Amino acid sequence: MSGTHPGFGVYVHWPFCQTICPYCDFNVHKQSPVDEAVWRQALRSELAHYAAETAGRTVSSLYFGGGTPSLMAPATVATLIDDVAALWPTAPDIEITLETNPTSSEREQLGDLRAAGINRVSVGVQSLDDEALKFLGRDHSASDALQSLERAQAIFPRTTFDLIYARPGQTLEAWQRELEMALGYAGGHISLYQLTIEQGTPFFREGLKPADEDSAADMFEATQDTLAAAGYAAYEVSNHARPGDESRHNLTCWRGGDYLGIGPGAHGRLTLDGKFFGTHQIHNPTRWLDLTGSNGHGTAKRRLLSTEDRARELLMMGLRLAEGVDKARLLAITGLSLEQMINPEARDRLINGEMLIEDETRLYATADGRQRLNAVLGSLLN
Ligand SMILES: C[S@@+](CC[C@H](N)C(=O)[O-])C[C@H]1O[C@@H](n2cnc3c(N)ncnc32)[C@H](O)[C@@H]1O
Repeated sequence: MSGTHPGFGVYVHWPFCQTICPYCDFNVHKQSPVDEAVWRQALRSELAHYAAETAGRTVSSLYFGGGTPSLMAPATVATLIDDVAALWPTAPDIEITLETNPTSSEREQLGDLRAAGINRVSVGVQSLDDEALKFLGRDHSASDALQSLERAQAIFPRTTFDLIYARPGQTLEAWQRELEMALGYAGGHISLYQLTIEQGTPFFREGLKPADEDSAADMFEATQDTLAAAGYAAYEVSNHARPGDESRHNLTCWRGGDYLGIGPGAHGRLTLDGKFFGTHQIHNPTRWLDLTGSNGHGTAKRRLLSTEDRARELLMMGLRLAEGVDKARLLAITGLSLEQMINPEARDRLINGEMLIEDETRLYATADGRQRLNAVLGSLLN
């Protein structure tokens, strides 16, 4: 992918997990016996369905997310990768990522997943503190996580891992120690998320609160400093990478590129005949499977986005990135200028408050602005 061209991505959702984490509100379901051959066939038919509409486009990234896609048989992963290569031209440096949990059984699959064609793994470490892992409802220990990271790094050209911080009662000092330790095991990329308590999750029902706002802000700042000093630029609110090691798939989404969402609950963004659509597959896995079996795809909704919707989305996604939003590109894609989309007084106030920076070509958020991005967007967007 050259420059800031957004690329074209394919996302495949595997909705099953061995255990459901009490903080997670993704489309996840406990793994009861899954008829993998039937699931594989359904995912293949959705790929073929969307390929018919996007023939000839070059796929720059394929991302297996979940849920826990490392529970898929490597043969299923291999079939889906082979299908993508047969259905579309693929970039010579195509990024093929799979999310994995750090349990011993999944560790044993890593070699076969590499042979299947995966070239980047994202390990759900979440914490390097056994107490915290128990609190987060994880089914692995810190030592499991470190063993999985070491094994993943021996096998895959690119690795990344996720940690969750700003947990209830977590101190800045404890987080800094955990982060330093994690850095010792890092490849080229790390995702560091502040815990959010999402409606409908067990944590929400228990009335849990994350760390208070001030300590979360201190932890965010310490995170930015520690990672920058170690050579990992904060290229997005929660994502840090050495130069060139950014997640290409996620960059496609944040830069407002097209991506297909395959599998239950997956979202996609698609430009067809100059029109821009949001797609959403049926959320419920059983219903998705049934409909895909009979219709070849389980699309619940395909919504035509107005140019205003598109411009808002480009701003909301683009300001997550340190590179921000390219004003000429916004205009070229939507026909709307930055001036038409924002409140100029709020923009000036946010620039004076060092939350935003605007130059000839771009509007971008400072680290302070990215930390308070929802508030920034709330006052900025008309
Ligand atoms: C779909 S999950 C990863 C999949 C993998 N099965 C796992 O559990 O590690 C994607 C990531 O989102 C993050 N995440 C999910 N829910 C979160 C929450 N409520 N607060 C903060 N981070 C969250 C976690 O770090 C998680 O690794």
